[in-house]
Amino acid sequence: MFFSRKVITEDELVDLHGKVAIVTGGNTGIGYATIEFLARRGARVYMGSRNQGRAQKAIEEIEAKLQKSGNDNQASIHWLQLDLSDPRSVKEAATEFIAKEERLDILVNNASHSSFGPYKLNQDGLLDIMVVNHISHFVLTETLLPLLRHTATLEDSDVRIVNVSSTAHTHAATESFAAKENLNKQFGDSVTGYLATYGHSKLANILHIKNLQTRLKAQYSPITCLAVHPGAVMTVGASGFLNSVPFFGWLLKVFLGPLFFTSWTQGAMTSAFAAAGKEVAETRKSKDEVERRKYEGGYLVPVANISEPSTYAKDERLQRELYETTMEVLTEMGIAFK
Ligand SMILES: NC(=O)c1ccc[n+]([C@@H]2O[C@H](COP(=O)([O-])OP(=O)(O)OC[C@H]3O[C@@H](n4cnc5c(N)ncnc54)[C@H](OP(=O)(O)O)[C@@H]3O)[C@@H](O)[C@H]2O)c1
Repeated sequence: MFFSRKVITEDELVDLHGKVAIVTGGNTGIGYATIEFLARRGARVYMGSRNQGRAQKAIEEIEAKLQKSGNDNQASIHWLQLDLSDPRSVKEAATEFIAKEERLDILVNNASHSSFGPYKLNQDGLLDIMVVNHISHFVLTETLLPLLRHTATLEDSDVRIVNVSSTAHTHAATESFAAKENLNKQFGDSVTGYLATYGHSKLANILHIKNLQTRLKAQYSPITCLAVHPGAVMTVGASGFLNSVPFFGWLLKVFLGPLFFTSWTQGAMTSAFAAAGKEVAETRKSKDEVERRKYEGGYLVPVANISEPSTYAKDERLQRELYETTMEVLTEMGIAFK
């Protein structure tokens, strides 16, 4: 039977007392609201953000909202300094995290470079949007993987890794990820070209999560990996994109924005479900193998429904190539993994 959810409430999330989470880009938008969901369920949450002032302000706001609403889960939200434009510093941040925390139950790779260009090559010859959206999140995930895998062996654990992608991944036709040039692929200097280049990085988010799920399964690690499209959400990022549309961008924003774009909270529901949904936890315990695997490597669209990503996203060759090429590029940069 076809069933489509309209909403996810905090009651549909598991109890997260004693659990630890990281959400990147949590100082605003969908990441901010995802942190609020996880904190409401009692998790200790790290807000991965590059700017201390913006992070502290957001943490104080979320804590005040929780208090005002009578939430007595004693939210514990902390700043994790994270600049995703610099994969080497991401490696350091993740290594320091492992030294201080004994577990990590939830990793939500949410932060994103803006979806409008022009995009630039950095000092390592890599496209800035691909560095922020894919390469640095890959470094963060792979560095934290030993801790995530360890947590998955603990009693009552239910470890989840979530990559926040976008339906824009369908704009990127990408035949190969076999070489560094493929990571840097651009689709032209127009609004649609910029959107497709952003989509290319969001395709990488899905390819990465699917490849990761395959690798973890081969290692018998019971971690659930999911990719998410959050919907059209009126955030700083979405607003910036609409402003970049020549002539009528502001018209779209003012008149169509309220019709087609949802709130931060609505936008975070699918991520929160992927990170902590009770239904995901229940299916993992099912005796039926198909049901048990329902969410493994899955792609969720609003609100919290399993969907099919593009043919490219499902291509196992592309998943493997992206993994191997990203590893090669990182080795060239002196970044290695255990
Ligand atoms: N909004 C939508 O309609 C929509 C639709 C589809 C998919 N998505 C996806 O949903 C996720 C969240 O989107 P959003 O609209 O909430 O984003 P947003 O409002 O643009 O916020 C982006 C977040 O990423 C952070 N960030 C950017 N560059 C960074 C860097 N170099 N290092 C560390 N953090 C960095 C930003 O930090 P600063 O505050 O420091 O800039 C901010 O916290 C993204 O992955 C996006 O692709 C959004």
